Formats: sequence, C-alpha cells, structure tokens
Amino acid sequence: MNQVIVIASGKGGTGKTTVCAGLSIALAKQNNRVLVIDSDSGMRGVDIMLGITDDLVYDISDIISGGCTMDQAIYKPDGEYELYCVAAPNNPDDEVSPSLLKEFIEKVKADFDYILIDSPAGTGSGFEAAAVAADRAIVVVNTEPTSIRGAQNIKNRLLDLKITDIRLVINRFDKDRFIQTDIYKDLDEIIDESGIRLIALIPEDIKITTLSQRGAMIHNWSKSGIIFSAMAQRLKGHNVPLVVKV
Ligand SMILES: Nc1ncnc2c1ncn2[C@@H]1O[C@H](COP(=O)(O)OP(=O)(O)OP(=O)(O)O)[C@@H](O)[C@H]1O
Ligand SMILES: [Mg+2]
Repeated sequence: MNQVIVIASGKGGTGKTTVCAGLSIALAKQNNRVLVIDSDSGMRGVDIMLGITDDLVYDISDIISGGCTMDQAIYKPDGEYELYCVAAPNNPDDEVSPSLLKEFIEKVKADFDYILIDSPAGTGSGFEAAAVAADRAIVVVNTEPTSIRGAQNIKNRLLDLKITDIRLVINRFDKDRFIQTDIYKDLDEIIDESGIRLIALIPEDIKITTLSQRGAMIHNWSKSGIIFSAMAQRLKGHNVPLVVKV
C-alpha cells in the first residue's frame, strides 16, 4: 500500500486542513499507520486539529537541517492509534524545498500505510513540495465558481506532475444555500466542471469547526467521524455510499 496523498485546493479556506485531519484520524482508526505532514509553512494548522500544538518543539525544517532527530519531530496525537504528525515551520522563511521534502518522504514511506500531506492553497512552492512525492491527490472545493476554477488549475498542475489519481471533495455543503444561490443546477454540474471524480460530500456543520479547531476530533468521533470514515473506505476503493444525499 504505502500511499502518499496530497490534499490541495486552488482557492484558500475550502477545508483542506480539516479534511486532512479528519481523514488521517479515520484511516488510523481503521488500523492503518498514518503520517500527516503539514506543508503549509507559516500557516500551519494540522497540529491544532490533531491536538499536538502544546507539545510542538520541532518541525520538518529541523529534521531536514539536522537540528533534531526524525523521532523528535514526529509527534503522536492522543489515542491508541498509529497516527503521527510532522508540523510545518511556523516561519515561512524556513519552508522546505520540494526536493528535500521528497527525499524525507522517500525515507519514511515504507513505515506508513498512508502519508497525507496538507498543502497551502494554490500552486506555489508549498503545494509543489507537497505534491511532488504524492501518488494520489484530493482536491477540496466549495460550491462556488471561484473554488471550482481553482480545482481545474490544481488538476492541471497535478497532471503536469504525473499525478493522475485525483479525487474531489465538495466541502461545506449547505443545501438551502446551494439552492438559494442558484449558481449550479446540481452537484453533477460542479463535478463535471471540475473534471474530477467525487469521493466525498461533506456538509456545512458547525460541529466540524468546533471539534477540529479545539483539536478534539480524535476524541469526539460522532457525525464528522461517520463522514470521514466513509471517505477513508472510498479512498481504499470500497463501495461505500456518499453519506449525505442531495
Ligand atoms: N464541513 C465544514 N463545516 C463547517 N466548517 C468547516 C467545514 N470544513 C471546514 N470548516 C471551517 O472552514 C474554515 C477553513 O477550514 P480549513 O482551515 O480546513 O481550510 P483550508 O483549506 O485548510 O484553509 P487554508 O487555505 O487557509 O489552508 C475553518 O474555520 C474550518 O473550521
Ligand atoms: Mg489549511
């Protein structure tokens, strides 16, 4: 197995980090050994959502520069799961180059069933670093044309990097808002316009914000858990229906 998956979006704030954290917990709860790497230098967030911020001393740039050992910078969130996380540097100047991140991933890849990489929005160097070692990609969108255009751009860039296994997450879906804004006639139109196959439809849900921003998702695995568990199953190719039907 040993898959490296980049989580990306053209537009900022679509929910990449939330999806990355939720999916990593779901995969770990399904008995996979999972490493999350934050590639959003200067704007890291996975550590908050996985509840490891208070322990954080070292990040990926320390491993690369030899400022710490690999074990010192690989943090384990609470729980009995094989879930681990490497933070991005807090200082954007310490961003790790794509080739060095790729080298790191190649070193640790055999130790994990899944490596999820949370990338910054857009197709800049942080995305490049996250994508260059990936086998697969998940593109996160909201139901707006600016977001879908971003997904098209990301898809093209991923294809340039020879990543062809790309799946779409429509996040923060609010049925009433979707109908009232009357931009798309249905979700198929969004999927067609993005040109990416859907893997999950995640509703707008304040519990997702509350739990993730408190680093409590791993402990309160209720509604969001069902959604991310199904997504993890679909990622593995299992025929699990989309949780939220519209
Ligand atoms: N399904 C959801 N329901 C409600 N709120 C959500 C949902 N998904 C994400 N959010 C909220 O949306 C905001 C942006 O989420 P997140 O930080 O995961 O996005 P991002 O794509 O990683 O942003 P950035 O581009 O800045 O890295 C956060 O406040 C988060 O809690
Ligand atoms: Mg983010």
